Amino acid sequence: MPQFNDTELTAAVIDSFEETPDPRAKFLLQELVKSLHEYVRKTDLTFEEWEYAIDFLTRTGQKCTPIRQEFILLSDVLGVSMLVDAVNHREREGATETTVLGPFYVGEHKQMPHGTDISANLPGERMFVQSRVTDLKGKPLAGVPVDVWHADDDGFYDSQKASYATQGPSSRARFVTDADGRFFFRTILPCSYPIPTDGPVGEMILQTRRHPMRPAHVHFLANARGYEPLITHVFIDGDKYLDSDVVFGVKNDLIAKIEKRTDAVMPDGKPATTPWHLMTYEFHMKPGQGTAPQPLGVKATEDA
Ligand code: BEZ
Ligand code: FE
Repeated sequence: MPQFNDTELTAAVIDSFEETPDPRAKFLLQELVKSLHEYVRKTDLTFEEWEYAIDFLTRTGQKCTPIRQEFILLSDVLGVSMLVDAVNHREREGATETTVLGPFYVGEHKQMPHGTDISANLPGERMFVQSRVTDLKGKPLAGVPVDVWHADDDGFYDSQKASYATQGPSSRARFVTDADGRFFFRTILPCSYPIPTDGPVGEMILQTRRHPMRPAHVHFLANARGYEPLITHVFIDGDKYLDSDVVFGVKNDLIAKIEKRTDAVMPDGKPATTPWHLMTYEFHMKPGQGTAPQPLGVKATEDA
């Protein structure tokens, strides 16, 4: 019966993965053991603290449903999501910056005609979004599906509301770029909002005296064949939380100036009945491969 001191224990656990057939899985597991053991040694972790951590992770899992992902939220607030983003996007070469997917990429993104008001029944200041998708040289990319989603005027996503089950998606849609790489739609001006604080991750944020806010933004996921999937947000310039996003997701190039307009027609020639805002942003895609994530709860299909 082998008996180990604490450093021999680490070596023995690392060694126990030696026969793992997949070399990458073996590497990841052995490095994980090294880092976890190092953490326990460095902190002299007590039994109570270890039990607390197990309970915290158990509650995090129990909070997950097909449309609520508490583990993504945990990864986001610990900066792990942005670190994975950073190590995978070191060379942007002029491509649009990326940021977190977040936990609210849920449900269906139904394709809608350009110009659709995706927040038609919601209160809020009206906004027209006009955009274009190009390659790194500015060549328009046609036929690219672009998923968009954002929070309402109270700071909630559709999937956080009881009405989601009966009324389906709102403030989320898919647009497909035209021959000139363009797409456009109507919506409301989003506001800054707190991440969910009714679960273990939100409790941790509040107990550690961090604020739970994200600056106002619209999410975009563009998925063009032959290009890296682009997962990003466009942030609203002037938001008071741009410097302290709870998930560390802001990048300067993703902040857009939103123009306040009083013209009687919007850029697609249709009438505007109230003053409105104009968001203009162009996305530049980097050649490459990759599979865009599926919305939570949606099964992958062959040509998705
Ligand atoms: C979001 O922007 O939807 C989001 C991202 C990370 C954590 C919580 C929300
Ligand atoms: Fe968001």
